[in-house]
Amino acid sequence: MNNIIDGKKIAQKLKDNLKLEINTLKQKYKKVPGLAVVQVGSVAASSVYVKAKTKSALEVGIEVFDYHLDENITEEKLIKLIQKLNVQDSVNGILVQLPLPSHINEKLILDCIQPNKDADGFHPLNVGKLSISETNDENILVPCTPYGCLLLLRELDVNLQGKHAVVIGRSNIVGKPMAQLLLKESCTVTIAHSKTTNIEDLCASADILIAAVGKPEIVKMDWIKKNAIVIDVGINRIQKNVEGEIKNKIVGDVNFDEAKERAFALTPVPGGVGPMTIACLLRNTKISFENSLG
Ligand code: GUN
Repeated sequence: MNNIIDGKKIAQKLKDNLKLEINTLKQKYKKVPGLAVVQVGSVAASSVYVKAKTKSALEVGIEVFDYHLDENITEEKLIKLIQKLNVQDSVNGILVQLPLPSHINEKLILDCIQPNKDADGFHPLNVGKLSISETNDENILVPCTPYGCLLLLRELDVNLQGKHAVVIGRSNIVGKPMAQLLLKESCTVTIAHSKTTNIEDLCASADILIAAVGKPEIVKMDWIKKNAIVIDVGINRIQKNVEGEIKNKIVGDVNFDEAKERAFALTPVPGGVGPMTIACLLRNTKISFENSLG
């Protein structure tokens, strides 16, 4: 090997471009793009993501409206807030950080977000648009993590057409939209999941392997074809014995040290997909802002 894909650097490039574009729009239309960030409760990981998203939005010139709500808020009150944001002119994008507490119906909440302010691309209308559009270059609001993965693949300057892409994980946030995006790049796509038999051999047949399982270092050397491209979406907090000392560590779904012996290119965790997710959220907000300008 090999290429360790620098997600931080690629995300920064994307953010620099967005900042320029946003600045031009601001000057031309004398308006400022706005992103409402809604967090319910204080799940530690969510607080980290929300802070990072807010910081990056401000850096590129997006105004942030921060709503940190009590974890016992009723579904009804949360819906009321979203309805208010849906009609607020200064808000172009609405992000509701997931997961939500168990007494709130996540699907119901996501369905309430006005589709043209859907900064995460999770609304059924946007999911449908992603499914029927023919290319990935239309201004559609696409889920941020898989779109970020696609941009990382494009940076490699490898022809994706006809490649066998295996996506491990079938979530609405990553697995399913990732498969749609890869299909539009003319990959041959397989989605693997917890009930897939012989998953190891299936993954070992992949030219492109996207791991979005949420299980620490489940993808081992034997799962990886020689010279495959491996994109690790996992962010798992574990305790690891490092030279006799127990340390908190963030690892991906892929065993990095093993994978780098096999892969042609590989994303690290942290510093791979994570920064791209945030950059793509800003991209979606810019698209919503641009669309609102007519
Ligand atoms: N929780 C984990 N990933 C995401 C994401 O991309 N968007 C939101 N809103 N919540 C998440």
